[in-house]
Amino acid sequence: ENLKIDISKTFTFVSEEKVNGYKSQVASHLKSLYEKTGRGSDFLGWVNLPSSIDEAQLSDIETTAANLKSKADVVVVIGIGGSYLGARAVIDAMSNSFDHLITERKNPVVIYAGQNIGEDYTAELLELLKDKSFALVVISKSGTTTEPALAFRLLKDLLESKYSAEEAKDRIVAITDAKKGALRTLADQKGYKTYVIPDDVGGRYSVLTPVGLLPIAVAGIDIRALVKGAKDMEEITAKEGENSAAATYAAVRNELYKNGKATEILVNYQPKLHFVAEWWKQLYGESEGKENKGIFPAAVDFSTDLHSMGQWIQEGVRNIFETIITVSKANKTVIVPTDEADLDGLNFLAGKRVDDVNKMAELGTLLAHVDGGVPNIKVEIPVLNEYYLGQLLYFFEIACGISGYILDINPFDQPGVEAYKKNMFALLEKPGFEAETAAIKAKL
Ligand code: PA5
Repeated sequence: ENLKIDISKTFTFVSEEKVNGYKSQVASHLKSLYEKTGRGSDFLGWVNLPSSIDEAQLSDIETTAANLKSKADVVVVIGIGGSYLGARAVIDAMSNSFDHLITERKNPVVIYAGQNIGEDYTAELLELLKDKSFALVVISKSGTTTEPALAFRLLKDLLESKYSAEEAKDRIVAITDAKKGALRTLADQKGYKTYVIPDDVGGRYSVLTPVGLLPIAVAGIDIRALVKGAKDMEEITAKEGENSAAATYAAVRNELYKNGKATEILVNYQPKLHFVAEWWKQLYGESEGKENKGIFPAAVDFSTDLHSMGQWIQEGVRNIFETIITVSKANKTVIVPTDEADLDGLNFLAGKRVDDVNKMAELGTLLAHVDGGVPNIKVEIPVLNEYYLGQLLYFFEIACGISGYILDINPFDQPGVEAYKKNMFALLEKPGFEAETAAIKAKL
């Protein structure tokens, strides 16, 4: 069984014929992705990445992960954007929901830094780590991003004050560019173990490089199954081409967009998938939001958000559509017990699994939202495990490439991310930004 897509609940809003009409352009966009002839073609290393990962790479990552696991109770993964969200998405999806409270453990607790500049967060992290055995995985493709660089400076100082220079060095792994950037210079000088982020893989497409795989392996998650799932989806998509699930998703979301559905809400019914949605938001938002175009990617966790955003989705502005990630079967079983007094009135659920209730919430919501004017796409995986997460990640990546080409933008750059950096550096009076500093001060 493989990941499936069901778009039948969009056909009261867009015609099936119109969606099928995308097939020939989708076939040519896929060809451009495979043959590297479209926009942003320098950044297509992720397209055949799953099938190119070999045994040596996997076992090297596993060995490094085992070394960090043997040394540290806490591993801090430092990175932002594409150097953060893929690892967190998979780790959260595959970990116990209460992982941080589990004391008897085989794997270190993975926590994150460098994805915000909150001083309280930073202070509390430094305070916490003072008395812990910890290690650092610092990830930055450019090697110059301010947020992770700042977090790394602080955490490295703490590590070096706790351990000998040699031991501190062995507790740091850096993942960065082969040659460029401050992190590469620092890592080479200090002699850290390093991994290279390939030139042709952009941050948000890098989850299946060491950027994602090392932190995921440190958390004790099976990276081989993850890569196998992605590899199978790579093969399925290549084989099925314009009829693949990814092609269908790319086509239908663009047709919905053309018909005024400017916001896509990714829905999950498993709280563990929250960060898969955060990863997806970055993938689609940063890939498509340019040239004054692009679907706004939003996300909700149901049924939590049915009691908050549910009202808006049911009856607000009709410019949205939903994509549900549905997991056919729960991994664990909890049966609703019978209660003789039935004071809570729940005996009608007795004997059912909690997942049966969840599934009816899902189906009931889907039908209500479609009736309320919200087209619905369903992406279904049989179970939540590493293998199907691998399928899901690659499915979204390749669909994003196709979708960006349908939209006629470059899905592999992010020029808009620079504007805030320029202003921040000007305001902080970074050397080299003197003219910008004078200009921005005049505006204040
Ligand atoms: O997808 C992207 O390219 C970005 O989100 C980057 O991953 C993010 O800005 C972090 O960049 P870097 O890895 O260079 O620190």
